Amino acid sequence: MEMQARVGRLLFKNPVLTASGTFGYGREAAELYDLSLLGGVMVKGVSRDPWPGNGPIRIARIPGGMLNAIGLQNPGLRHFLEVDLPFLRHYDTQVIVNVVGHDEAGFVDVVRGVHGQPGVAGIELNISCPNVADGLLFSQDPDRAGRLVGLVRQETSLPLIVKLSPNVTDPVEIGAACQAAGADALSAINTVIGMAIDVERRRPVIGIGSAGISGPALKPVALRIVYDLARKLDIPVIGIGGIESGRDALEYLMAGARAVAVGTAVFRDPLAPPRIVAELARELAAQGFAAVDEAWAAANPEARRRQSR
Ligand SMILES: Cc1cc2nc3c(=O)[nH]c(=O)nc-3n(C[C@H](O)[C@H](O)[C@H](O)COP(=O)(O)O)c2cc1C
Repeated sequence: MEMQARVGRLLFKNPVLTASGTFGYGREAAELYDLSLLGGVMVKGVSRDPWPGNGPIRIARIPGGMLNAIGLQNPGLRHFLEVDLPFLRHYDTQVIVNVVGHDEAGFVDVVRGVHGQPGVAGIELNISCPNVADGLLFSQDPDRAGRLVGLVRQETSLPLIVKLSPNVTDPVEIGAACQAAGADALSAINTVIGMAIDVERRRPVIGIGSAGISGPALKPVALRIVYDLARKLDIPVIGIGGIESGRDALEYLMAGARAVAVGTAVFRDPLAPPRIVAELARELAAQGFAAVDEAWAAANPEARRRQSR
């Protein structure tokens, strides 16, 4: 099976990546399997300065997935460059750096710091975290999203992926603004805002109240957004949301994604990403395909015509 996947200028050995924030910087997973089995790794969000994250309670189980309100906790750019990136360089996989900031300057500073570092294949701009006060600032307004992407675009020639939020009226409008401002690709989606109530304590389960829904409950939401983006825009999409099996990954390819990222599934099965690579190869063969791109092209004839132009 030809598993290579092309996402714009990015070439992955297979279309299965790990989703940002559910895989740290790869250290724990590397004790369980060879990270070189993965198409790519999207690391936990990196901010210019260390970011403390939210207080407890930050995660909860819900039917069909989980709630999280980690709040972008991370040790900052310097730690990433000195400790985490050198570790990830040992593996033959594409490292995508997920970038977060409180404001435009915060995003730009991280991109500047990451640009030119060996071992960085691309950047994913996280404009869509629902769990910090200013997290959705850039993802809910096409002008602000486009402006940020334009500023970052001036700083780096690295492939630029923009991660979209489902917490908007029309994700395609935001995606179009990112495309016009120079984004190479989109990733979709980040978590949907939700809540659970603790009846005994008479208040929300999660410390800050609301939180992001992830896991299988998210898959239909994400598939629809990926489907719309792939049909209406010219840049490629990485599908994220509730992927637990090779069959799920194949659904995303057929909805129009060129690659996928696996998030919450790793909390139940830490071996999920390499398992999904193997399962996807079997699913593709069972459907009579010889290559990942064939499955995508078969289900997305129009996008294929547009993207090959
Ligand atoms: C605990 C946790 C932390 C996350 N942290 C980040 C993050 O730092 N940056 C980001 O872009 N997305 C983050 N996400 C969102 C995931 O990357 C992904 O978009 C979302 O969870 C949907 O995929 P899933 O259903 O496979 O988990 C986080 C999700 C979870 C559950």
